[in-house]
Amino acid sequence: MNTIILRQTLTTALLGLTTVTMLHAAPASDETADIQARVAAARQTTGEFLHQLGGTMKKEMQAGGPVAALTVCQDAAPRIANRLSLEKGWKVTRVGTRVRNPMLGTPDAWEQKVLKAFEERASKGEKYRDMVYYEVVDEPAGKSLRFMKAIGVAPQCLACHGNSGQIAGPVRARLEALYPHDRAVGYKVGDLRGAVSIKQPLED
Ligand code: HEC
Repeated sequence: MNTIILRQTLTTALLGLTTVTMLHAAPASDETADIQARVAAARQTTGEFLHQLGGTMKKEMQAGGPVAALTVCQDAAPRIANRLSLEKGWKVTRVGTRVRNPMLGTPDAWEQKVLKAFEERASKGEKYRDMVYYEVVDEPAGKSLRFMKAIGVAPQCLACHGNSGQIAGPVRARLEALYPHDRAVGYKVGDLRGAVSIKQPLED
């Protein structure tokens, strides 16, 4: 009898622990339907961004090779990000673990923290393809939902982000002219290249 009660108490205690742990593991207490809808919208927008950029890049690489694609890529990424930002009323950007364009690609403190966490998650076997993180942040200007989607390095990225042996001479020359402080080289397939980052202002 006593043993049964003890067992039940232990089970309840263990269940209680599990619940507490799960609550703490959840991103925040803002797990409302509104936040979930916003996360879904952010996820869809990052997908759209990467799909459009990937499509443009592929077309240009096939049509004119990496030197031509480079210039298109330089214009296309900020243009797509800008269009999505205006369309949605959010800040939509692309950030890097190391950057080529410091004005557009430099992660802020929150983004740096998330990029580090992405690398840790990958070291435990998670794939960058499906890796996202979100959080509601409270800043002097108000609350916003921040969302990031990881971007891994694929073989086709090496023509412009690989080591000097993988980047053709004319591409290297063009990169050096356009980005004299380029740090976005020396990547390997499977590295974390960066993320699409979205910031949605939340109404009070
Ligand atoms: C044809 C050359 C080229 C290829 C191929 C290429 N990139 Fe880039 N990438 C660039 C250029 C140029 C920039 C700088 C754009 C700018 O000025 O904003 C850049 C910037 C970036 C950035 C923004 C951060 C930064 O460094 O400024 C990310 C993220 C990125 N590339 C990811 C990728 C990924 C992932 C692939 C492969 C799927 C890839 N790139 C393939 C040329 C290329």
